[in-house]
Amino acid sequence: MNVPRLHFANLLTSVETLPRLSEALGGPHLLIKRDDQTGLAFGGNKTRKLEFLAAEAREQGAKTLITGGALQSNHCRQTAAAAARFGFKCILVLTGDKSERASGNLLLDQLFGAEIVYVADRKDRDRILQEAFDRATKEGTKPYLVPYGGSNATGALGYAFAMKELIDQNVSADWIVFATSSGGTHAGLLLGQRIFGFNGKILGISVDEPEEWLKKEVSQLASATSEKIGERIEFTPADVLVNADYCDAGYGVVTEREREAIRLFARHEGLLLDPVYTGRAAAGMIDLIRKGFFKRDETVLFLHTGGLPALFADQYTHEFR
Ligand SMILES: Cc1ncc(COP(=O)(O)O)c(C=O)c1O
Repeated sequence: MNVPRLHFANLLTSVETLPRLSEALGGPHLLIKRDDQTGLAFGGNKTRKLEFLAAEAREQGAKTLITGGALQSNHCRQTAAAAARFGFKCILVLTGDKSERASGNLLLDQLFGAEIVYVADRKDRDRILQEAFDRATKEGTKPYLVPYGGSNATGALGYAFAMKELIDQNVSADWIVFATSSGGTHAGLLLGQRIFGFNGKILGISVDEPEEWLKKEVSQLASATSEKIGERIEFTPADVLVNADYCDAGYGVVTEREREAIRLFARHEGLLLDPVYTGRAAAGMIDLIRKGFFKRDETVLFLHTGGLPALFADQYTHEFR
């Protein structure tokens, strides 16, 4: 494989058992893979993607990393950190209003020295991102566009190799459950499963997108990613397992389900989840356990994808007081 990669993630990430949570839920054997500890500004799933994305930017001679997301985007925080670490300028186009008091991820974006462009309405974000890109090109600060969520064929490679890592760790699980949104983590895992031979099922719990969209997006992305490391493998929407039953409240809206999941992980295992992604995915997993979706003798591995700085964002702290 001849794909550029910068090695800065703290790999491999540990796999731990969750005996007290498993007992409290009367559920299957539960494991957690700690991708909240991948390093790079509090860790998370973007670290693995950025190893490939930042390397590609550097190879193309880029001087600026530019990307966009929500005001509390983990992807943007980690992109800003990677930019600082490798000497790129960083421009972030964030949906939301500039506030007097930055907190959580936004506070960290500022610490990393990112230039922040605020967009009041999400529907204008693509256009404003393009304008920022064009401006940087004109000014000669050669921009490299990191896709939303780091989810393209380059970024998804990070999770194809995460799957190899898991197999090399001799972990056997019947299910991998995790938060899926822009689809890159999901696509990488799916491709890694096929290439490296993982026997379990991969179930993404949607944080915000409809099932049909994710199935299509993830299968297309997995197919495109396969070309980066070998011959094209054709995935179809039927290859992708998605549950979108837990995202009705909307992106980033904390409900009693997320609050309960976050408390259960905290009080039974001393583990932290984030309010937007892992909190929602864990809430889905817990509901599925209660409904008997997983068999009692099965092993379910929860992939912790990070996101923890959002716990300290002003918009979320009150949820847990
Ligand atoms: C903490 C966390 N978990 C999961 C996801 C979803 O990953 P993906 O965008 O690859 O579907 C994100 C995306 O931003 C995230 O920040």
